[in-house]
Amino acid sequence: MEKKFKRHLITAALPYANGSVHIGHLAGVYVPADIYARFQRLKGEDVLFVCGSDEHGVPITIKAKQLGCTPQDIVDKYHAIIKDSFNRFGISFSIYSRTSSKIHAETASEFFLKLYKEGKFVAQESEQYFDTATNTFLADRYIVGTCPKCGFEGAYGDQCEKCGSTLSPDELINPHSSISGATPIKKKTKHWYLPLDKYEDWLKDWILNNHKEWKTNVYGQCKSWLDGGLKPRAVTRDLDWGIPVPIEGGEGKVLYVWFDAPIGYISNTKELLPNSWEKWWKSEDTHMVHFIGKDNIVFHCIVFPAMLKAHGGYVLPDNVPANEFLNLEGDKISTSRNWAVWLEDYLADFPGQQDVLRYALCANAPETKDNDFTWKDFQARNNSELVAIYGNFVNRSIVLTHKYFDGKVPAIHDGALQKIDKDFIASIPQIKEQLQNSLENFRFRDALKEAMNMARLGNKYLTDTEPWKVIKTDKDRVAVILNLSLQLCANLSIVFEPFCPFSSKKLQAMLKIAPVNNEVCPTSKPDGLVSWANIGRVDFLEAGHTINAPELLFSKIEDEAVLAQVQKLNNTKKANAAKASEAAAKVVTPQKAECVIDDFDKMDIRTATVLEAVKVPKTDKLLKLTIDTGIDKRVIVSGIAEYYTPEQMVGKQICILANLKPRVLRGIESKGMILMAKDGAGKMRFITPQEIIANGAQIG
Ligand code: 2FM
Ligand code: ZN
Repeated sequence: MEKKFKRHLITAALPYANGSVHIGHLAGVYVPADIYARFQRLKGEDVLFVCGSDEHGVPITIKAKQLGCTPQDIVDKYHAIIKDSFNRFGISFSIYSRTSSKIHAETASEFFLKLYKEGKFVAQESEQYFDTATNTFLADRYIVGTCPKCGFEGAYGDQCEKCGSTLSPDELINPHSSISGATPIKKKTKHWYLPLDKYEDWLKDWILNNHKEWKTNVYGQCKSWLDGGLKPRAVTRDLDWGIPVPIEGGEGKVLYVWFDAPIGYISNTKELLPNSWEKWWKSEDTHMVHFIGKDNIVFHCIVFPAMLKAHGGYVLPDNVPANEFLNLEGDKISTSRNWAVWLEDYLADFPGQQDVLRYALCANAPETKDNDFTWKDFQARNNSELVAIYGNFVNRSIVLTHKYFDGKVPAIHDGALQKIDKDFIASIPQIKEQLQNSLENFRFRDALKEAMNMARLGNKYLTDTEPWKVIKTDKDRVAVILNLSLQLCANLSIVFEPFCPFSSKKLQAMLKIAPVNNEVCPTSKPDGLVSWANIGRVDFLEAGHTINAPELLFSKIEDEAVLAQVQKLNNTKKANAAKASEAAAKVVTPQKAECVIDDFDKMDIRTATVLEAVKVPKTDKLLKLTIDTGIDKRVIVSGIAEYYTPEQMVGKQICILANLKPRVLRGIESKGMILMAKDGAGKMRFITPQEIIANGAQIG
């Protein structure tokens, strides 16, 4: 038997407060979450829609360092910007708070303490990378080095973006700090781990057996995590920005941002409803849905549920309809490359046209696979759908009512309905059923198509019944047509409300019907006729009711407007290309004068392995390397101490110029030269064979 829920707790991923939000965020998380929340409220359900800024974590501290301000300055700035953008796009959160709030710190600390006291964590000492230049432990993302799988030099400590391999910092060749460039050292530190392995069987049963209905992309990702076996995850970090670890030994450490952020859903609820928050989080008849992007799946489907289970007493998510990613004009959205459409920019360039972006993003939402946003598609969605179908139908209905009936809803006399009218009326609930089914199953693109089909129905009805011709002979017949058309306008104002709320308000004002009150916290009950249950009715507007003058719901977007946006992106591309060649110019030197093969043949270049490495005393730059050249063991003094520690060199296979005339450096005879190249950041890197080759193999 289907479970009956009493309330809907809807969460949307807490965005990091270290930058603005862009269309990718809106399409992936906030528009679908808002559509769902508005839909449930229109149905008269109890809804709590929770979000806020995620204000902890390493990237915020790094940004603060770069800008010479405090992390609090950064989050204050972006929290305000993000909150304002969401508000202006009509994202109807019940609360939008922040994780730097006092109540959040208390809630997260209590959560941690309870688990700690009940022995739910495992404490473990481990060696972590430490940046001596900045005196900080380095998060995996901030260690960069060469990928052991593909040789890419810019791989992160957690992933190589070139070949996609998941990595750990230990696997990186030549790891260095991306903050200071220094070679990190290993330092012992103690942390507390949530032993996810202990929850594996329970998670397998809960997700794989009992949530087969989850979206295939979500279910699939969970299955592969679970099949791969779960490992304990550290829930604390060595950092000075975050929620202090509230136990002895926790000094100088904070809760890991991914431990405290999801607790933000709870603390924000508490902040809004100090006396009744538990009803939302601790009653079995709460229906909880997390809206997130695909990069957050593991945290919302595995880690947070395990935390809630370990704590006990909390409800678990019923669904996690994660979306894939939105690309922009064929390229991955990237903050660092400024390849994005920022919400503030859109609001400045398309004032008052929030619904157009909401519509275009929903119509193109990356629900099952990554999708592409193009300005051309955006224009077409507006001009050929919103303007030509929805707006056109509404406009024709209202203009004709003013023209033929002085803006008064005409009456329908008994028995006046013809078959075409009855079919038209019967189609409305049929479309509603499809639409509702799609919304309930998180298929927002399909739902939007159905909403537009309802507007298409109106256009077809007007085209088939031709009131502008019939008026010459039969005004009563036109009264029927326009009455029903206006009733459909009222229906459309409800049906489109979750997707395009600003236009619905405008339409309801034109029709002079009580607007949907859909933004009240924590819930709103539609009190008038305007509610989801009433979709399909054709008595929203009484005969004789005077409507307002027509105003365009949507207006055409001209080619110039989208060309300007494309131009903006082209400029970004050009600027990025210029930056890349500037960087290359720093490291690429002009080609040397022509030589002949005999010149090359004079050089004896060979593979070799470093056996020992020590710093040359009283120098910063020199390492004394003892190497096995395959022909002998010899010493080479090399100026690489700035780039490699002795430990990093030992065991490395390198290439050397073996027959270089020996020379004495700092009293040490150096026999040969190590082949090096400058990387994109101007640092020297030794050249190493892709595969291990016998020492002494000649290169040529
Ligand atoms: O990926 C992100 O942007 C995270 N800040 C999402 C956090 S969601 C939740 F757990 F708070
Ligand atoms: Zn790689």
